[in-house]
Amino acid sequence: MADNVGNKDAKNFAEDIPFANEGSFHVKGASNLDWGMKDRLSRIFNPKTGKTVMLAFDHGYFMGPTSGLERLDLLIPKLANDADCLMGTRGAIRSSVPATYNKAIALRASSGSSILEDDLSHESMVVDIEEAIKMNASAMAIQTFIGADGQKETIEAVNQAVNLGSRYSIPTMGVVAVGKEMERTTKFFLLATRMLAEFGVQIVKTYYCEDFEKVASACPVPLVVAGGKKVPEKDALTLAYRSIQGGAAGVDMGRNIFQSQNPEAMIQAVGKVVHEGFTDLEAYEFYLDVTNVTVS
Ligand code: R5P
Repeated sequence: MADNVGNKDAKNFAEDIPFANEGSFHVKGASNLDWGMKDRLSRIFNPKTGKTVMLAFDHGYFMGPTSGLERLDLLIPKLANDADCLMGTRGAIRSSVPATYNKAIALRASSGSSILEDDLSHESMVVDIEEAIKMNASAMAIQTFIGADGQKETIEAVNQAVNLGSRYSIPTMGVVAVGKEMERTTKFFLLATRMLAEFGVQIVKTYYCEDFEKVASACPVPLVVAGGKKVPEKDALTLAYRSIQGGAAGVDMGRNIFQSQNPEAMIQAVGKVVHEGFTDLEAYEFYLDVTNVTVS
């Protein structure tokens, strides 16, 4: 390991220069992967735009039935058409999502704590690779708590998923979690996203931050940005817009869609930003137009 003393901060991210090893494949950092990996990544990232709208509804795995997710069986059918990928637990997907949807699945494969605890940072890989294969998962999602109490076990979990996923060509999505003592700084997200990419994950899920372009530039695999806590629809669309402008390959949005006043209009508006180049304002106008028609 390099000597930590005298380590100089990274500063030359060449944000204006496109990723150099793109080849002819549309997913960043994946041109050297095998056919099965590319097939699964192509289910998540639309080959025409290179981007994804991932709908996150895995919150129940540690917080139970949160607002908007009380009835997955009623919610998901309304939103699935407009998502490229569904992110959920095996229990939620098997019980409540018809297999006929044939959507890309980002299978939540780590857990270990609940909101009844003060420290949520202890997670391990709890879903067998055979389960991921049986569910035809397009990716396994593993939460990591870099810099928090559970760092070592979650780093082991994400490496375990990468090892097993490599065996069967199932991508791993490393999920950057922010531990309770951690600050959401550019420095932290540079560290956490790059560490996950170096561990071999094929996708990193993270949060938007200041100087996001640097974070995206320094990460050799695609970043998808989490929505975070519910904010007004206009602000959530601005988050999506800034993320895409900053180099994200999509969003993995939950509460800002399913807790919206009009979840269907909201996921469509997010899709306009991600896939169709709408600005946040254009997408918000779209949201208002659809909402005026469909909400009484
Ligand atoms: C945590 O519950 C999960 O990783 C969520 O999938 C993630 O936080 C994205 O959902 P949201 O947009 O609600 O933050």
